[in-house]
Amino acid sequence: MSGELRLTVLGAGYLGITHAASMASLGFDVLGVDTDAARVDQLNAGHLPIYEPGLEELLGAGLEAGRVKFTTSYPEAAAFGDVHFICTGTPQQLGSNRADLSQVHACVAALAPLLDRPCLVVGKSTVPVGTARRLAAELSQACPGAELAWNPEFLREGNAVADTLAPDRIVVGVTSGRAEQILRQLYARPLAGGAAFIVTSLETAELAKAAANAFLATKISFINAMAEICETAGGDVRDLAQILGADPRIGPAFLRAGLGYGGGCLPKDIRAFVARAEDLGAGASLAFLREVDAINLRRRARTADLAHELAGGNLTGVPVCVLGAAFKPGSDDVRDSPALDVAQILTGMGARVTVYDPAALDNARRARPELSYAPTLAGAARGAHVVLLLTEWPEFTALTPDRLGGIVARRNIIDARNALDPVPWREAGWEYRALGVAEDTAAEDTAARARLDASP
Ligand code: UDX
Repeated sequence: MSGELRLTVLGAGYLGITHAASMASLGFDVLGVDTDAARVDQLNAGHLPIYEPGLEELLGAGLEAGRVKFTTSYPEAAAFGDVHFICTGTPQQLGSNRADLSQVHACVAALAPLLDRPCLVVGKSTVPVGTARRLAAELSQACPGAELAWNPEFLREGNAVADTLAPDRIVVGVTSGRAEQILRQLYARPLAGGAAFIVTSLETAELAKAAANAFLATKISFINAMAEICETAGGDVRDLAQILGADPRIGPAFLRAGLGYGGGCLPKDIRAFVARAEDLGAGASLAFLREVDAINLRRRARTADLAHELAGGNLTGVPVCVLGAAFKPGSDDVRDSPALDVAQILTGMGARVTVYDPAALDNARRARPELSYAPTLAGAARGAHVVLLLTEWPEFTALTPDRLGGIVARRNIIDARNALDPVPWREAGWEYRALGVAEDTAAEDTAARARLDASP
């Protein structure tokens, strides 16, 4: 294998599309493969089936330059590629916490028998530790020249292109110097840009992703556990997070208390990690992650309880406005969305819930057709007795108390992302509640800040 390497990317989801377009932008010829013919046609026409800033432009440039195209054909992929990237999804299994590896296995089973020359297969999907070693054996049995490496992806939705082209680290699990050299060649540009290159075993590379996600989830649940303590002890978690974050050993990132984490990665990856540890007989080591998950889910119930309180103890028939459906701003992804879960809980409590989101309405309608949606913020808020800010989109954080006050029937708001300044809202007559701030403390705080602002 030498000269210009030709790449295939197997699986055209978030990861696969971003990786294919990014590698094309680095100058490689890339063939993306997906079993969904409609998706392949859509991508070849330059249209994204997902919402990701900057990706459509990158894909368009790659298509125009003839550097990237998509197919449903594995024989075409096997003939084309020197390096094959596995980018298929690994969702949570139905009825279990384990990862569903069927797409990864299907992709290797389709590719392996077609390989007839030396090549490198590089796993990027998030898989339980031990998977790569088994896939490596399966591959080399099918084609002695086929080698496996593991190169986990750490991209964030909404930041996927930058995270791929300018990552802070590139982790490669390899079993030979040849595989390492090929990966160095592929990532020469990000490496020249300062990315750390960490060469390790297949197992450590698999664990790298699981451990990073576990740490991030733990950090969020830690501050949300502090939020629970603040709510009962009379503290303010926003101040507490600022104090903790000022310590460089802790750092401010991922200390935003609120409704907690969701999305297609953190929740299911944490559960799959625990399940894998248990299968390995090391369940005790990750037992704390069960608590991390439980804290995260408790925030959803707490948010619904706050709405119940603000509605005077009865939500039956009460019009409630939910702002947010995406699991985070800058994304249209509603997988394990805390916002939609809260909307569902409130509906179960009898409320008449209307959901609005600037980007995720179509996906939300598909995922939870039983909920009611409005195409505009005003449409969702009109006549509401309680407003819940559940995803901190700029459109919501820029809201002013008077503008929203002119639409709703009652001035009750729950800021479940700690995204608003409580002072102007309370001054405008709103009953403002946030997660992680005891009610008494919050009111005193607002009064104190108002006094400070008024003092000469
Ligand atoms: C995450 C990891 O960051 C990424 O490295 C991995 O590859 C995939 O999972 P992503 O799911 O895109 O990426 O979202 P991220 O930006 O990490 O946010 C995860 C969730 O945590 C969101 O629901 C967000 O609202 C929440 N969050 C984040 C908090 O509640 N508080 C915080 O301080 C930070």
